[in-house]
Amino acid sequence: MKTIIKNGRIITAGADFIADILISGEVIQAIGKDLDDTVDHLIDASGLLVFPGGIDPHVHLEMPFMGTFSSDTYESGTKAALYGGTTTVIDFILQKQGNSLRSAFDEWSGRATGNAVGDYSFHMAVTDYNDSTRPEIREMIEEGITSFKTFMAYKGALMIDDRQMIGLMDEVKQQGGMVTVHATNGDMIDYLVQKHRSEGKLSPLYHYLSQPEVTEAEASERFADMTNYTGCPGYIVHLTCEGALNAVRNATRRNQRVFVETCLQYLLLDASLYEQDFDGAKWVMSPPLREKKDQATLWAGLNQGLVQVVGTDHCPFTWEQKLMGRDDFSKIPNGHPAIEHRMELLYSEGVHAGKISLNKYVEVTSTNAAKIFGMFPKKGTIGIGSDADLVLFDPNEQHTLSVQSHHMNTNYSAYEGWQVTGKVKRVLLRGKEVIRDNECLVQKGYGRFIKRERVNGIV
Ligand code: URP
Ligand code: ZN
Ligand code: ZN
Repeated sequence: MKTIIKNGRIITAGADFIADILISGEVIQAIGKDLDDTVDHLIDASGLLVFPGGIDPHVHLEMPFMGTFSSDTYESGTKAALYGGTTTVIDFILQKQGNSLRSAFDEWSGRATGNAVGDYSFHMAVTDYNDSTRPEIREMIEEGITSFKTFMAYKGALMIDDRQMIGLMDEVKQQGGMVTVHATNGDMIDYLVQKHRSEGKLSPLYHYLSQPEVTEAEASERFADMTNYTGCPGYIVHLTCEGALNAVRNATRRNQRVFVETCLQYLLLDASLYEQDFDGAKWVMSPPLREKKDQATLWAGLNQGLVQVVGTDHCPFTWEQKLMGRDDFSKIPNGHPAIEHRMELLYSEGVHAGKISLNKYVEVTSTNAAKIFGMFPKKGTIGIGSDADLVLFDPNEQHTLSVQSHHMNTNYSAYEGWQVTGKVKRVLLRGKEVIRDNECLVQKGYGRFIKRERVNGIV
């Protein structure tokens, strides 16, 4: 099967030109002017931008969490991602404390295999690092899971201590992987949560007030210090604030590089949303939304190269699930739905609003994640031999986000009424057209597990 995309404006992390893309089977065969168009399928991309398929390296699908499961399945979550131009996601496997990494891997594979619509990979969250877990690090890397997630927070549930962290870093470094982190100080947060509860302060606002900036700045600095000491490649997920980014900035002064991901919501939304009674539960997530000054820091961080990736931390819950915390903010399932909106909202609020360039947009939505997590150049770029994962994007079309039109499995939108400039028109995944004019053309089972390469922290 041969497909040609004619006359699109091709944008990669380092280029911007009008040309044709010839696809043979699942991969790009040629890029050039006036390519021979005697093919099976011709797509006219005149007037459209062509991006590499988006990669969201931070999503939680069907994840058991806080007494429930995140509400998107592999089918609904990866399909919603495709509608929004994200062709590959990296989900988190959670090790159960006392159990093996292998058993968690089997459980997650069981949910994903045959159900995913878009491509996916896994990070392995190590919640219990001990002598029997150690040899499994190599095994997981051989399975193509090269990043190991740690939680410095969620005390009593997912959190590991610094002794486990340093041991894990030593092993992961030796085996050619990377340690990623939810960097907030779990003990401080636990203290503040209990303090607010005992004072009868139970509304969503107190979720925010229980996780002040210092909890994230302190943990980010500690993580940077530990990765510096061990030499293990490190990546901070969902970084939100000035204090935490300054910890990373300081690390660069000793010639260290710590990779940083922020998420859409921390660039666009702020903590004033918690002031509105229980409705604020829609944005109860960890870390919480921050201040306007933090948004300015993050946008600057993208342009300074200190923040390399924009993910979503898509962890959706229905309104009924959010109501589990009606009388106590600490019981509100943490997370919000966003997997579908990342590419369009970041284009609109970033490129269209003049805050980032088109090339930077591609870097932070696709290329850097592919490089950092061992998928480049198969994913993350438009090049000869790369998977034909492509987004055809109308930079001028205006539309409004709403629960009425999104495809995520939640009965509210965290971005209800947002006016967006720029729309995903067509999406190809491994050479096949999967989205055309708001219609999904593939079924569950089309999505494939992407085995990732070893990483060394140099991109
Ligand atoms: O609130 C969040 N972020 N929920 C998902 C779990 C995590 O910490 O990433
Ligand atoms: Zn987290
Ligand atoms: Zn997360």
